[in-house]
Amino acid sequence: MNKVRVFAPATVANMGCGFDIMGMTLDGVGDVLSVEVVEGDGLEIDNRSEVELPDDIEKNVITPAVRALMEAYGEKRLVKVVVEKKISPGSGIGSSAASSAAAVYALNVALGRPFSDERLVEFAMEGEKLISGGTPHADNVGPSLLGGVVLLRGYDPLDIVRLPVPDNFCCSVAHPAIMVSTRMAREVLPKDIPLRTAVKQWGNVAGLVAGLALKDVYLVGRAMQDVVVEPYRKQFIPGFDALREKVMAAGALAFNISGAGPSVFALSADMDVAARVGEIMREHFAEVGSDVYVCKVSNKGARVLNE
Ligand code: HSE
Repeated sequence: MNKVRVFAPATVANMGCGFDIMGMTLDGVGDVLSVEVVEGDGLEIDNRSEVELPDDIEKNVITPAVRALMEAYGEKRLVKVVVEKKISPGSGIGSSAASSAAAVYALNVALGRPFSDERLVEFAMEGEKLISGGTPHADNVGPSLLGGVVLLRGYDPLDIVRLPVPDNFCCSVAHPAIMVSTRMAREVLPKDIPLRTAVKQWGNVAGLVAGLALKDVYLVGRAMQDVVVEPYRKQFIPGFDALREKVMAAGALAFNISGAGPSVFALSADMDVAARVGEIMREHFAEVGSDVYVCKVSNKGARVLNE
């Protein structure tokens, strides 16, 4: 196929307690781009989306991801990328990850699929390194490429585990119209944490994984508590604690920051509660405005649209 058009979904990274190691795929929201590979050498990025992106391609997450793939491919080509639809950067629902995931997915198809989807995660991570201040992480690019809930058991070497999702795993996600850069949201985090805090967090991570494996959405809800990162990041989200009280009172099982924020997400055991929680989020952010999504976790990751 000469020109490959791809959709890569948005994601909720961290899932509460799993900072940098867990992420899940949302349904119906994401990036669309196309890639064409021709004779020559280099990379061109043409942004036809409504979202402003840096003119300098060295500042675009697509660049390091595409270069990593082409380096592993070992032959020179001119790669032409057209960005058609884009989630706003700094959203907390994997906006940068969706772009790098879509680019490497489309490029791999255009080259005749020389790499596995798991290998594509490694290339796409290079984009995350660019925007996060040097730390490559795959908790957004992993689920955007692979779909479902993804655990990064380890990074060296990369050990990707796909986890089952309970049928009644219903999400409400709000993206308030404020921007929080991933770099800034990582800079406020402590370098070390007390052992007592770590014990709480790894109990929650274990509970989260067990809840998914056992398909017990109530255990997942109890485990989705972040005592490490949230205390430092919630300052960026207007009325975070008050919003948590409101959504929990409406029947949600858990409420957390999505990725590096400012998006937030709640887990509910049925879609009616999830819809009500979505409305509460919309009202809460009425002054700044927000996009609200109410959906289940999608088991479909990046995919070709013109096959
Ligand atoms: N795990 C990352 C973070 C996700 O929370 O900083 C955003 O890239």
